[in-house]
Amino acid sequence: MAQRITVIGTGYVGLVSAVGLADFGNYVTGVDIDTAKVERLSAGDTVIFEHGLAEYQRRNLDAGRLRFTTDIRGAINRSDIVFIAVGTPDREDGSADLSFLERALEDIAAGADGFTVVVTKSTVPVGTNRWIGEELRRRRPEAELSVVSNPEFLREGRAIHDFFHPDRLVIGYETERPEGARARERMEDVYRALYLIETPMVWCNLETAELIKYASNAFLATKITFINQMANLAEACGADIHAVAKTMGMDGRISSKFLHPGPGYGGSCFPKDTKAIANTGSRHGVTMSVIEEVIAANEQQKARIADKVERLTGGVSGKNVAVLGLAFKSETDDVRESPAITVVERLLSWGARVSVHDPQALANFRGIFEDRVSYHESEFAAIEGADCLVILTEWNEYRNLDLARARELMAGDALVDGRNALDPEQAREVGFRYIGVGR
Ligand SMILES: NC(=O)c1ccc[n+]([C@@H]2O[C@H](COP(=O)([O-])OP(=O)(O)OC[C@H]3O[C@@H](n4cnc5c(N)ncnc54)[C@H](O)[C@@H]3O)[C@@H](O)[C@H]2O)c1
Repeated sequence: MAQRITVIGTGYVGLVSAVGLADFGNYVTGVDIDTAKVERLSAGDTVIFEHGLAEYQRRNLDAGRLRFTTDIRGAINRSDIVFIAVGTPDREDGSADLSFLERALEDIAAGADGFTVVVTKSTVPVGTNRWIGEELRRRRPEAELSVVSNPEFLREGRAIHDFFHPDRLVIGYETERPEGARARERMEDVYRALYLIETPMVWCNLETAELIKYASNAFLATKITFINQMANLAEACGADIHAVAKTMGMDGRISSKFLHPGPGYGGSCFPKDTKAIANTGSRHGVTMSVIEEVIAANEQQKARIADKVERLTGGVSGKNVAVLGLAFKSETDDVRESPAITVVERLLSWGARVSVHDPQALANFRGIFEDRVSYHESEFAAIEGADCLVILTEWNEYRNLDLARARELMAGDALVDGRNALDPEQAREVGFRYIGVGR
């Protein structure tokens, strides 16, 4: 049966979920505190860059299954299920900042009417969903509700694909409470379309679902960091990290995914989630030394790229550096915790003049650096007159960069390829002094 759903927060996760859940035939209202965003979404504008999102959004708006509003409590009041997809950024001490979530709980406590399933899609520390249940029942003792943890695993840039074809769905529920069984039935209805295509469904308790999410992200961050350190060693001892990584990946126990050396992981998830799980470990008195080391090593990896620029240019002070790629990975406009931020900050602090290009992330980067760097709509405009060229995101258009033209336009011959996106031989043939990562 189609469910009436409110999704609180229309960011990367909330918007994709709202659109996807509507496409499954549910009646979905996306709500947000950001009035301008809601107006744009209602008009059919997607507000983020994500392949396929615009078409799905328009189709479901037109079909009357999807709408957006700032009337959060009104939407909750008419819903069987409320998904929470607000941000959970990190605080100074690495713990998760749950203030957006707390505000959402106030609205749920005030708005919920009839049996309501409260589903957390936001990534929240282990124990949070249990606390959400207690908080809501304390605020509205008469309310009928049940809490579900349904962590999201989508990859930005492939979010629509991942929503409709997830590797698995993780649904933690209140297994020990009678309402838990009712909530489970509703979740089965919500995701019927995925159940029918035999998506593995993992039903578990709240804490298990929460930990699955953190353990998965921490593991992927560890894998990236592991290959980055091996790349650094390959550089030092004359090995080619690509051959190493490729061959490691042939071992089925290892798999080739997430074995690409680069400038360190970034984005809105890995950095904060690794810090949050380390923080959770220390709260429980459990050592998370592997993750703590990963966090530190990742910072060093970002710094290494700037060090390479400094070395290759003989000191960047007063020099022009062109940075291609600002998003934390390709196919997204997201610059949150992007390695480009650390690299550009360092180069500026050493007195470099920086010009930047990115096919999608210029506006978001401008929000951080304002007029401290120069922004260019074409890569060649950014490259012109540069002493050093730095590649930080693996966009396809950079992989096929016209290196001869780039070299001609530049004042210098230094090239730091932070993603190993280019062919070193080709770069050297046209006169570049090339440094990649681990080769
Ligand atoms: N971005 C990803 O790839 C990804 C993947 C998996 C999980 N997650 C998790 O999902 C959560 C959301 O991430 P995101 O990247 O979509 O965040 P985001 O910052 O892009 O979006 C959050 C949205 O929530 C809105 N909001 C905040 N408080 C609100 C409130 N009280 N009521 C209504 N709206 C509110 C904000 O205005 C914003 O539009 C985080 O916990 C994140 O860790 C993100």
